[in-house]
Amino acid sequence: MWGGRFAAQPDDAMQAINASIDVDKRLWREDIEGSQAHAAMLAAQGIISAEDNAAIQAGLDQIAAEIAEGAFPFSKELEDIHLNIEARLTQRIGEAGKRLHTGRSRNDQVATDFKLWTMRAAREAGDGLRVLQKALLKRAEQHDEWIMPGFTHLQTAQPITLGHHLLAYVAMFERDRVRVIGAALEAAWECPLGAAALAGTSYPIDRESTAAALGFHAPAGNSLDAVGSRDFALAALSNLAIASTHLSRLAEEIVFWTSPQFGFATLSDSWSTGSSIMPQKRNPDAAELIRAKAARIAANFAALNAIVQKLPLAYAKDLQEDKALTFAAFDDFALSLTAMIGMIETMRFNRAAMREAAARGYSTATDLADWLVRELKTPFREAHEITGKIVARAEAAGVAELADLPLEDYQAVDPRITAEARALLTVEKSVESRDCYGGTAPQRVREQIARWQESFK
Ligand code: ARG
Repeated sequence: MWGGRFAAQPDDAMQAINASIDVDKRLWREDIEGSQAHAAMLAAQGIISAEDNAAIQAGLDQIAAEIAEGAFPFSKELEDIHLNIEARLTQRIGEAGKRLHTGRSRNDQVATDFKLWTMRAAREAGDGLRVLQKALLKRAEQHDEWIMPGFTHLQTAQPITLGHHLLAYVAMFERDRVRVIGAALEAAWECPLGAAALAGTSYPIDRESTAAALGFHAPAGNSLDAVGSRDFALAALSNLAIASTHLSRLAEEIVFWTSPQFGFATLSDSWSTGSSIMPQKRNPDAAELIRAKAARIAANFAALNAIVQKLPLAYAKDLQEDKALTFAAFDDFALSLTAMIGMIETMRFNRAAMREAAARGYSTATDLADWLVRELKTPFREAHEITGKIVARAEAAGVAELADLPLEDYQAVDPRITAEARALLTVEKSVESRDCYGGTAPQRVREQIARWQESFK
């Protein structure tokens, strides 16, 4: 396609390093759409004839069908998707096909195709996040008042409700969704087509019409920026990386929760694996792989960022590597989402184990200190000290839950402590009391569930 001035063929390894067809064949739909918009515009501007345009449109439709059927003869000699489709078009329709590349370059062509692809993929990723949020919301509704330990430093801190814990992820994934959709909107802003190789073109093209036909807001106002920038992909990847970080944290918790040491949850058969040597095992492989994929997605962002940061304006072939990194990140993300949704929808929670763990470690000690402050006007630091002594007594007596320590023990430390105070130290009373807005109390959890349900409508 560009061999006019060359006498010899490229070295095999040259072709191997240069060809991108195995990766960028995924852009075929976008490439055909871009070419059809371009040819229609060329005809409307009188740059090519109406007959040539008609032949190009029909030829590209046939090629689209051919690719969709898996019958297209992809060729490495033709480097990439752009040259493959263009060569095939000329093979099918003859001379008209050779006029398609008037007033454009592969540089604006690939930037346009890849932007279109990224904007669609980002929208799909955003939709996928919404499906996950709905799955989490449903489980939160079913477990709005189930009690589990809340942790800081992975040390039992205070009892919380499982519904509250699950809703924390609904909130994180909402911010992720907004950011990922934002990347799609950003990509949709300016259309690179018509920037040509780097400087624009001398043909009287109409960039407004191609931008609009392809669903962009406007043509890009600077041709160097249009062909040389990939920050739309970087934005999408960085936002995917953040969302994957949240997926990974949830995956990490699933790994803990399903270990026999925690015993908080069991994965369904469809979302766990066995061991080839230990028959008793039920492994959370999908959760573990989600953790690993989050690392890869972040690494793909870092790799593309490093590629772009050394490039002088405008286009350089380094940019060809943008697609493999971006496609892989979106693929990993989509698969991670599917697996997470499957696990969340089908895992069973163990109410008794979670409740028991929530009471362990004297998790309601703060509630006693708060009672001393509220009812007896004890300064908080003093209340902390008194409670500490009571915890020590419980520990010495081998009593697992503060609520089970006899009242005499409380009164031995501070005679003002009443039976009513002691009754507040169950995990149920503890979560009920944390009823400030955004708190873990079941009624507050139900309030947030209703808010999410409303916003998902
Ligand atoms: N396959 C190339 C890419 O993905 C298309 C652009 C090639 N441009 C060029 N001047 N060689 O970046």
